[in-house]
Amino acid sequence: MAAINPLSAGARTPLTAPGVRARKGSEPLVMVTAYDAPGARMVDEAGVDMILVGDSLAMVVLGYDSTLQVTVEDMAHHTAAVARAKPSALLIGDLPWLSYHLSTEDTVRNAATLVRAGAQAVKLEGGRKRLPAVSAILDAEIPVMGHIGLTPQSVNVMGGFKVQGKTDDAARELVDDAIALAEVGCFSLVLEGVPSETARLITEAVPIPTIGIGAGPHCDGQVLVFHDLLGIEERITPKFVRRYANLKADAVAALEQFAADVRAGRFPAPEESYGGGPVYGRGGDRATA
Ligand code: KIV
Repeated sequence: MAAINPLSAGARTPLTAPGVRARKGSEPLVMVTAYDAPGARMVDEAGVDMILVGDSLAMVVLGYDSTLQVTVEDMAHHTAAVARAKPSALLIGDLPWLSYHLSTEDTVRNAATLVRAGAQAVKLEGGRKRLPAVSAILDAEIPVMGHIGLTPQSVNVMGGFKVQGKTDDAARELVDDAIALAEVGCFSLVLEGVPSETARLITEAVPIPTIGIGAGPHCDGQVLVFHDLLGIEERITPKFVRRYANLKADAVAALEQFAADVRAGRFPAPEESYGGGPVYGRGGDRATA
């Protein structure tokens, strides 16, 4: 019999944005992405602290080559699916590209769309130039998680998915961005694709938890994408991904077995078939259920 995880859904006090903020400097925070109800149930039963409906949805679920293709409607659709699992983990919806760049009104409306879909907080990418957007969302009483470093929505400006904050100057810029985001009121901050030393400087400079992805061990927490962690997406494996399962290989093997069983007449077996039904054509014998 499977062991019962004491942290699994239903046995836990739901985590809030202030609760996450208060974890700075104590137990490491765990965040994993999810995009649908079964994924959310798995992640929540594993006892993670935060579920991110990331705009990585574009690449790992919808088949696009970058995150730039997903819309607020896509994000809301998948946020609602995750919310229907009623997780105890804090549910964060990712604001997609161009949903917080045009006007304050548009920004707040888009953040509210994710909240109405079930998000308890939103995340957006960028440093000091996004302070007005963060501030407007906070004014609408929606908690905001920041995201700096390698920000995938800036892929074209960065010239690819490249590690950021490598020089002293670049690291200082990121530290200043992080301080500004913390001061304006973000409850936590994703640090993506930066050297471990840069992440350490940022983590030490801010009073809010930093959640790293490709940012080394000196963060207050870590996040990985569901499909990377479980080996569902295995076409590209970034250096920072640790695979805890090989679900794609297991799934292909299971599907091959199903196909072989059908072709060999081994599926379905009598115990997988319904008895009863018409006598017609069976020589008068009535099968029992
Ligand atoms: O979209 C996403 O999954 C993310 C994480 C990688 C932090 O932003």
